[in-house]
Amino acid sequence: MAVLKQIAKATFVYDDLCIPMLPRLRITCDNPTEQMKSIKSARMYEDDIILCAYPKSGNHWLSQVLHMLTHGSIQYASPLLASRLIELISKKGIDALSPPRILHTHLPLRMLPTQVVEKKIKCIQILRNPKDVCVSYFNHATKIAPPDTLEVDFPEFTDVFLTEKFPYGSYYDYLLTWKADVSKYPDLPFLTMFYEDMKVDPVKCVKDLRTFLGLNIKDTFCEAVVEACSFDKLKMKESLGIKDGVLVDVWKENSGGTFHRKGEVGDWKNWFTVADSERFDEKWNEKMNGSGIEFSYSIA
Ligand code: A3P
Repeated sequence: MAVLKQIAKATFVYDDLCIPMLPRLRITCDNPTEQMKSIKSARMYEDDIILCAYPKSGNHWLSQVLHMLTHGSIQYASPLLASRLIELISKKGIDALSPPRILHTHLPLRMLPTQVVEKKIKCIQILRNPKDVCVSYFNHATKIAPPDTLEVDFPEFTDVFLTEKFPYGSYYDYLLTWKADVSKYPDLPFLTMFYEDMKVDPVKCVKDLRTFLGLNIKDTFCEAVVEACSFDKLKMKESLGIKDGVLVDVWKENSGGTFHRKGEVGDWKNWFTVADSERFDEKWNEKMNGSGIEFSYSIA
């Protein structure tokens, strides 16, 4: 499969996981394996928050929500989530950030700093139905700037998406590994959220976050955060970030690439044929049946 060769060129394997050579990593680091290893000894502060989620599950959205909640004001974080992405900044970058810190990662728990478990750092995970993740990822991967752009059509992409050769591994391995790892540490404060719930009742979800984080903030502030983090507002913020050069060179020229593409539940129906969808379900269910993780694929 030609796309597997392209993925292999843009990734490296570390601890059995396929990790993308993110552009900045490629520039600043000759030895990505050492950089990954260094993460384990990074310093954590008790009030750190880590958003651990698979790509395209709503990381940027939740990042802004968390930034506002923890700062207690309607101020946007830098749209460059990569500047807080653990695998990109590694130990050096993590240690250089001063608290209060919201860190991000797409890695499994075993690769995170050992102090995450030792200091019981609050971890939040947002999950999204795999078909919408797949569509969102396809648009991301085919529009990202070279040399990472994938030249692939959607049906072929759906096939590699569910393999271990995919960046960060297949989504089901990602979910099952996190579930198993978290169950080993019942004292680790861990909140699971769903993208689809955020779409249906964002205020309730933000209030749940408030409770989990132990924040003393009013309902009206939670509502204001939801409003400030609406899809349209964040999309506008992203376009300002591109204009200001913060997000420069992320997307292929004239590709229309964006972190705020459609923001819907069920867009997958516009992409999957019935046959593709059935094939996807079959593979998904084979791994995920009995996992206790259930998704909504559409909302009324
Ligand atoms: P789509 O590509 O389906 O539109 P991530 O931040 O993890 O890369 O996830 C990106 C996905 O989250 C994109 O999905 C994007 O549109 C969606 N998203 C971002 N902000 C959102 C918001 N405020 N409301 C709903 N969806 C949002």
